[in-house]
Order: sequence, then C-alpha cells, then structure tokens
Amino acid sequence: MKNILVIGSTGQIGSELTMKLRREIPSGTVVAGYIPGAEPKGELAESGPSAVADVRDAAGLAAIVSQYRIDTIYNLAALLSAVAERKPLLAWDIQMNGLLNILEIAREKGCAVFTPSSIGSFGPETPRVGTPQDTIQRPRSMYGVTKVATELLSDYYFHKYGVDTRSVRFPGLISYTTLPGGGTTDYAVEVYYSAVKGEEFVCPIAPGTYMDMMYMPDALQAAVHLMQADPARLRHRNSFNIASMSFEPEQLFAKIREYIPELRVKYEVDPVRQAIAESWPDRMDDACAREEWDWEPAYDLDSMTRDMIRHLRDKLLV
Ligand code: SER
Repeated sequence: MKNILVIGSTGQIGSELTMKLRREIPSGTVVAGYIPGAEPKGELAESGPSAVADVRDAAGLAAIVSQYRIDTIYNLAALLSAVAERKPLLAWDIQMNGLLNILEIAREKGCAVFTPSSIGSFGPETPRVGTPQDTIQRPRSMYGVTKVATELLSDYYFHKYGVDTRSVRFPGLISYTTLPGGGTTDYAVEVYYSAVKGEEFVCPIAPGTYMDMMYMPDALQAAVHLMQADPARLRHRNSFNIASMSFEPEQLFAKIREYIPELRVKYEVDPVRQAIAESWPDRMDDACAREEWDWEPAYDLDSMTRDMIRHLRDKLLV
C-alpha cells in the first residue's frame, strides 16, 4: 500500500483517513478524491493531491488510477442509512454501480480495494447479542441491502479474479472532525456538540435502543491495519465484524453528564431511524478480526467521551 486513492475524502471517515495515510505512508501519494461541491479544504487540500472522483464515472476513476499509479482504493462513497431510505435509487447507484466501476478498474489495474460494510448489513432475524461473524444477513433498509451486496460482490471479485478486496463492518462512528450525515447512529455524535455548546439535545432514538459504536481513531486503525495484514492469515475478507463499545442513549448521556452535568435531553423519536436501529445488532462478536489480523480497539466509552469533549471544546472555542 503506497499510492492510495481515497474516494469520499471529505466525508466523516475520509477526511481523517486521508490525513492518517499521508502521515503514516510519507513515501507514497494519497489522492483525496471528492465530488464537486465537497472540495477538500485547509490541511486536506494543502497536504497532497486531490482529484474529482465520482464513483459513477468509470473513465474518470481509471484516469486517476493511471496518473498516480494507484495500488489501493479506499471506497468511502455512500449514502448513510436514513438518507438512503429517502433516496433508495440514488443509494443503489452510488453504492452498487459505483462499486462495480471500482472493482472493474481494480481488476484491470491490480489495485486492492477497501469498501466499508456496516452494522447495517444485518437485519431483524440476525442474532442481536454477540452477533457472529458468519450469520443471517437479511436487512430491510436500502442501506443494508447495498452493504450485503457490497460484501458479496467484493468477495466475488476476490474469488473469481483475485482482486485483493478487504473490509470491516463499521459500527456507528463517533468523531469530532467532520460530521456524519443522514445516519441512524448520528445522534451519538450530535449529542456531544449539543453538550459542549450548552444546547438542549433532541434525541431521535428511543431509550433502551442498543447499537455498536466506535471512536474514529479505532475505526481508522482498523481500515489501515486490515489492508496491511498478512493475506495468508485471512480466512474472511468481506467483511469483518469489529466492535469496541455498545450503548443505548441513556448510558451515553449519563457518561457525558459525568463531565458536563448540565446536558439537557428530550426525545423526539424518528420512526424511520428507530425502525432501522431496532433491526441492527446490539453488540457484534469480533473474534475473527482479533484472530485473523490482531484487531484490538483502544477506546471505551469513558476514554472516548473525555477525548471528544476536549477536542470539541477546542474546535468550538467554548
Ligand atoms: N453509521 C451508519 C448509519 O447510521 C451505519 O453504518 O447509517
């Protein structure tokens, strides 16, 4: 992994992953791929090359891969779960037709490909607690349908053509650099902003609803570490369960109140997000990731909360 294209480099994951890759692989080139209207800014724009990389434009992607001799593609283009329910055809177009373009280019030009899957790839029939690596995946959301299909298509390209595809099933990701947009787990990011700003938080997820969550530094470490793992050890590829913490809203609010006791919350449950959340696991079993590529998260709810509040206070100058 040396010359890397990050598609979706200005999104929640991409904005931090691109910078991490540039820091950790200084001898390589990390191209920040973006779509018009979401141009890289500041450090992201200044620290390396960027290029328009729309997953639906196969010729444009192929030109970038040739120009920069790309050997690894991080494909982070996606509509998240709640917005994908509003725009299912667009979600399919980006997540499936886009993926097919990338896999074809990877096949022709010998690139490795990382396309995240998600807790969203599971559904109501999946065992909720200790969700196994290999289990029932019958999601009912368009987001979930595209994520299961992503896993299958990525494995297909590995088995049929030898394309080095690897992936993880991300939990809800919590971070302070770039906001997520349109996800079911976004509440767990937004409440930190409200707490630090001293604003009342309106929670769209009902109390008692458990979901897997993860702090961004662990998610980035997983994305980099998996792509560097010894392929001989990988019995799975698309996609690995990874887990670090699981909580329901009240537990998160109680933890934040240990540091910001004034946090005020009221519930206005969003039926679309709530139905999605109830169909997802409470807690995944990540034993295969631990065994096959030594996955180990560094953050728990307490250390994440302290770090989030400290960084958001700096960012928001409060
Ligand atoms: N965070 C995503 C969402 O809520 C799940 O992968 O849609």
